[in-house]
Amino acid sequence: MPELSAHVRDVPVNQIREITEAAWATPGAIVLSIGEPGFALPRHVLEAGMACLDRDETNYTPNAGVPALREAFAARFREHNGVDIGADRVYIVDGAQQGLHLAMSLLLSPGDEILIPNPGYPTFAMTSRLLHAVPVGYPLYPEHHFQPRIEDVEALITPRTRVLMLNSPSNPLGAVLGEELTRSLVELAQRHDLWIISDECYEAFTYDVPHISPARFDSDVPGEARVFTSLTLSKTYGLTGLRIGALVCPPGLERKMNNVMESIVSCVASPSQYAAIAALTGPQDYVSDAHAHYRANRDSASAVLESKGIPFLSAQGAFYLWADVSHVSGGDVRSWVRKFLADSGVSFAPGTAFGSIGEGWIRIALCAAQEDLVEGLGRLPARN
Ligand SMILES: Cc1ncc(COP(=O)(O)O)c(C=O)c1O
Repeated sequence: MPELSAHVRDVPVNQIREITEAAWATPGAIVLSIGEPGFALPRHVLEAGMACLDRDETNYTPNAGVPALREAFAARFREHNGVDIGADRVYIVDGAQQGLHLAMSLLLSPGDEILIPNPGYPTFAMTSRLLHAVPVGYPLYPEHHFQPRIEDVEALITPRTRVLMLNSPSNPLGAVLGEELTRSLVELAQRHDLWIISDECYEAFTYDVPHISPARFDSDVPGEARVFTSLTLSKTYGLTGLRIGALVCPPGLERKMNNVMESIVSCVASPSQYAAIAALTGPQDYVSDAHAHYRANRDSASAVLESKGIPFLSAQGAFYLWADVSHVSGGDVRSWVRKFLADSGVSFAPGTAFGSIGEGWIRIALCAAQEDLVEGLGRLPARN
């Protein structure tokens, strides 16, 4: 058989999938390793998708998406972030992951470097490798509450650096970037003439702190603006399988984006786009119920970890807890999560799925039913 291409061989294994697939194959396992919201979808969202099929509206849509959906995303962005954008800057994509791929395809040439958080979401490295680019992790240290330091990021910038990737609220950390730090990161990108891709998948889920979008500090002048904002309905509305997201772009790039989109997926499935319009413009109580569920789960999970003396990062956003299991993981948390699943029937994502700094840590997804979460965490060996 001929060889696969070199850049495909370089794409790292996704350790979240690795453990989760093992958990799905384990009868009775409590799966706390994957961030999949478990709610049933509101009826009006499903009906809007079905009505699109009933109308036989199943042709190609414009590359950038159905105009009403672009406007719905733009309205939400204006309202949530106070940034005055038009629908022409919103590009509808096949979930945030395709939006990240689209943005990276536009910005990275072979050999270019992209600064990604370590620990950070695994596909930041996977997708950049797939595009023949070089992911360079900027460190988020426990002693700095896993927040980036400008000097650490700046020290990694080389003449090949093109993109700074930000992700707040963070998967896996649940950390949220504050206003001053966000502004400083945008200024850093301006000083070094870098693009920013800001992954804001979890913007609907912060707890007692505001979500700050880097786009707030960006210029709106074509040629000077540099922030791409990646949004998704996967997390906010639990629409993971419908594959709907949006990439909010700097002004003036749409024609270039059309070409790239055409060569990847052409456009997003039309029933998904109509379901998304209903989700964005219809009643929002579903989102507030999900928010309350995650907050309650965060609090009960935190109480279990505290009672066992297990250190963890207090989550201000997203739906994950980041916990230190170095008292049991023996320096190889990837193997330990496999053994824990086999012995105790509970799966966690190993911290190493998110970068080298994750050794000794696990990510606990807070999406499960509260009793399963508390039962699963109750099986962790205490530290005290
Ligand atoms: C930080 C982050 N970015 C992107 C994605 C991909 O989201 P989507 O399902 O919309 O492609 C996820 C999904 O878990 C995520 O956590």
